[in-house]
Amino acid sequence: MIPMVIDTDTASDDAVALVLALTDPRVDVRAITVVAGNVPMEMGVQNALYTVQLCGADVPVHVGADRPLVREHVFAHEVHGQDGMGDVGLALTGREPAEGHGVDVLIEMARQHPGELTLVTLGPLTNLALALRKAPDIAGLYKRVVMMIGAADGLGNVTPAAEFNAYVDPEAADIVFRSGMPLEMVGWDASRQDAVLSSADSDALAARGPLGEFAMVIQRQLWEFCREVTNVDGIDMPDPVTMAVAIEPGVATEAADRYVVVETRGQHTSGATVVDHLGVTGNEPNVRVVTHADRDRFLAMLHEACGQAAAVVGGAR
Ligand code: RIB
Ligand code: CA
Repeated sequence: MIPMVIDTDTASDDAVALVLALTDPRVDVRAITVVAGNVPMEMGVQNALYTVQLCGADVPVHVGADRPLVREHVFAHEVHGQDGMGDVGLALTGREPAEGHGVDVLIEMARQHPGELTLVTLGPLTNLALALRKAPDIAGLYKRVVMMIGAADGLGNVTPAAEFNAYVDPEAADIVFRSGMPLEMVGWDASRQDAVLSSADSDALAARGPLGEFAMVIQRQLWEFCREVTNVDGIDMPDPVTMAVAIEPGVATEAADRYVVVETRGQHTSGATVVDHLGVTGNEPNVRVVTHADRDRFLAMLHEACGQAAAVVGGAR
């Protein structure tokens, strides 16, 4: 069993990652903490609560940081839609989060289960950075920290140099990358190369049942963004492939321990994850950088999850 905590800025790809975790019998999701990112934090909370309910799961969802540490917040409505879930008319309001702030949950869960938990981060690292500031001891208390963040090839999806999760809160990412936690980074390069779904893939997943239909219908806005902006031939799934690596480390077919630093001052490069592939800095590696994933295994995991039973949810499609 994989005891897991998930920190997410719940939008359309995060939701698929949640479905992967919540429907896998090997995973015991203990808590979900939400952070401002793709959409305002409160909307991310509703999106996560909806997804948990649709999966018939009993997992607490906690509010978290509603803005980056120091910067103005940048949303991603152009990528995921106004509601973050493709604006397809889902009933994404009126659900109650659990008691407790996400930052405190990240601290308490680590202290209650030292060395046991896998933390998966799917959004900006604001919550984790705040937790580290409040309780530096947690740096040694998570078993793994598997992060969708950055780009090992330096190709950004928000600016030429920066991937969204790092771009939104570079100061938070810098704190986490310097923390000494057992970090694993799955960058946008791995998603773009090995986690792209074609329309045929999407149709096949949607046909698996209500969870598959949900997982694919909410990508409506993402199709347009991939076509018009990132030139991805289909839709790429950064958060789901990161979750797949967290559940099955063998999905990462190419990875290496690297020294990685986050740019926080560059006028044109803020949020860049600078990966020392050649070791030219002489600094000790601080992150395991995943650069390729097993697409076939990832797709099989998506099919397995999308074929699971769904609970009836008000407004579910
Ligand atoms: O750059 C992709 C990442 O930014 C994903 O986590 C997506 O959900 C957005 O948060
Ligand atoms: Ca995300």
